[in-house]
Amino acid sequence: MGQPLEWGRRYLMVRPDHFRIDYVINPYMSTQDQPDPALTLKQWESLRQAIVDAGGEVEVLAQRADSPDMVYAMNLGLATAGGRAMLSHMRFEPRRKESLSAAEWFTGAGFRLDRTGGEGVGPHFESGDAFVFGDSLVVGYGPRTEEAALKHLATEWNVRVRGLRIAHEGMYHLDLPFCPVDSTHAMIYPPAFDAASQAELSGIVPDPIVLTDEEAFAFSANSIVVGETIIMPACSPRLRDVFTGLGLRVVVLDLSEFHKGGGSIRCLTNPLDFPLSLISTPGGELVLPA
Ligand code: ARG
Repeated sequence: MGQPLEWGRRYLMVRPDHFRIDYVINPYMSTQDQPDPALTLKQWESLRQAIVDAGGEVEVLAQRADSPDMVYAMNLGLATAGGRAMLSHMRFEPRRKESLSAAEWFTGAGFRLDRTGGEGVGPHFESGDAFVFGDSLVVGYGPRTEEAALKHLATEWNVRVRGLRIAHEGMYHLDLPFCPVDSTHAMIYPPAFDAASQAELSGIVPDPIVLTDEEAFAFSANSIVVGETIIMPACSPRLRDVFTGLGLRVVVLDLSEFHKGGGSIRCLTNPLDFPLSLISTPGGELVLPA
């Protein structure tokens, strides 16, 4: 029986005042299919309210006019309850200005900032690829985060890092095929990973909730757990039974406008309270798939 997650009560969100599809960096984006501004704001506000209703806290950062993808706050940086944050070093140049505002926000909120690189120099790291789960920081790499960033995280923070190589262009961040639900359960979509990483993943997750293609591409794993509530963009009847059986209340919200940019509920929310205590190890440790 899993214990409730030790994190996921405090989030940073970016108010979508400049959300557009100006460029294409994932298979969901098309400049021919623009979000409706009023509906965008309404959907975002329903998510903010659902988090507060579930007992969570939300900090709000204003969106830069020059950074249409900044609404996907999950990628701004990896923040920890201990007050350290690893700023993202975005793979694609059009997202790099987001880091200027993120750095300012994290510093102002009292976080000590670390970086894997910046301005294209040094390994890319996008925090939508990283979760504390079990005894390690589980980090997806390949499409966005580079392998060298994992070593950096392990040694800089003295933590155990387990890497999973992502091998699916539609699942370009770990938060699309992987979602921690409690201390032992996580939603997973194995086809997102190469064979060695799929094997590694079964060692990482004691109680996997394996998604079907249809569930995965409805962004079901891009959900968040806040206390006893799971907030999801889509939930099949089968998944609803699973979560209800785990004692969770399921809230389903329509985030369709944000799917046009290739992200959903998890992507829109950055947890600020990942605990490092469970994953600390002197000197750091990096475990990569065979
Ligand atoms: N358009 C954004 C990108 O491709 C979407 C980011 C989604 N965020 C996430 N955490 N998966 O970078």
